[in-house]
Amino acid sequence: MPLPSHVRLVEVGPRDGLQNEKQAISVEAKVQLVNQLSAAGLGYIEVGSFVSPKWVPQMAGSAEVFAQIQRLPGITYGALTPNLKGLEAAIEAGVTEVAVFAAASEAFSQKNINCSIADSLARFQPVMELAQQHQITVRGYVSCVLGCPYEGEVAPEQVAMVARELFAMGCYEVSLGDTIGTGTPSSTRTMFEVVGRDIPRDKLAGHFHDTYGQGLVNIYASLQEGISVYDSSVAGLGGCPYAKGATGNIATEDVLYMLNGMGIETGIDMARLIAAGQGICEVLGKANGSRAAKAVLAKQ
Ligand code: HMG
Ligand code: MG
Repeated sequence: MPLPSHVRLVEVGPRDGLQNEKQAISVEAKVQLVNQLSAAGLGYIEVGSFVSPKWVPQMAGSAEVFAQIQRLPGITYGALTPNLKGLEAAIEAGVTEVAVFAAASEAFSQKNINCSIADSLARFQPVMELAQQHQITVRGYVSCVLGCPYEGEVAPEQVAMVARELFAMGCYEVSLGDTIGTGTPSSTRTMFEVVGRDIPRDKLAGHFHDTYGQGLVNIYASLQEGISVYDSSVAGLGGCPYAKGATGNIATEDVLYMLNGMGIETGIDMARLIAAGQGICEVLGKANGSRAAKAVLAKQ
């Protein structure tokens, strides 16, 4: 299969990246990060979550962040909504694209959203209906597609089953998440091969966490499977509150460096992206988690 000539990166840093941070991060700092990411040419920025503040306190200010960001035309500003209450809050905040999130493992579903996989899918039905009434597009996530922190191995057929349900209920794209980063190129390719039997590959995305250093190589393996949308996180921020030890998503800068070198178009400006990542790392008082950003910054 020829490699895609264009890749769309979904920037999840402000959400997947920051959701796990224990320290208070001001609305202002989050707004600044989103605005800098917009200026860097990201076409999709996941800004926050409308989830229970008891479950994920860091995302509690998402409505204020949405109210204050500068929304540029042509950019999608998305948010996670696990249920109707979340969608209603997102609508109130003027959000035009949301994501529902299910898991491929029962144990993770319970820990993350406090219900079974079947119950979560049933709960998404009215979310899809209300979203449609408001012309809100819905993306779907499946977590733990290459391993679960509680159950271990996850069968690709199980991933396919959940992805199929999300796609059938109207998610325009389903992002397959290696939440704990245990996948390798062979398990990644097998998973896309199996899920790709039911869902067109241009409706699938890869969401790789770099916990075991496999993020980039798994993206390369996915490119070979014809997958052309990837979620990534500026400066490699993040982790998942319900997956102990999960590190950030693969860093956007590292993915961009690889894609640039391969001549694959993204429309993203590396210098501005690095500035956005470095800015939020300074706010957090954290080392930059992107190897490419560190290499570029070391030369300046
Ligand atoms: P629950 O406790 O079962 O919910 O949580 P409930 O319906 O029984 O309600 C309990 C309380 O939560 C009530 O408040 C509700 O009003 C409130 P109380 O009466 O006790 O004061 N509540 C809400 N508040 C705000 N927004 C809402 C909302 N819903 C209920 N939307 C629930 C169920 C799904 C809400 C909870 O488990 C939750 O919020 N989970 C979110 C977990 C999360 O955000 N995880 C991280 C994102 S997923 C991820 O990172 C993986 C991904 O990146 C892909 C990958 O890496 O693989 C996407
Ligand atoms: Mg994630």
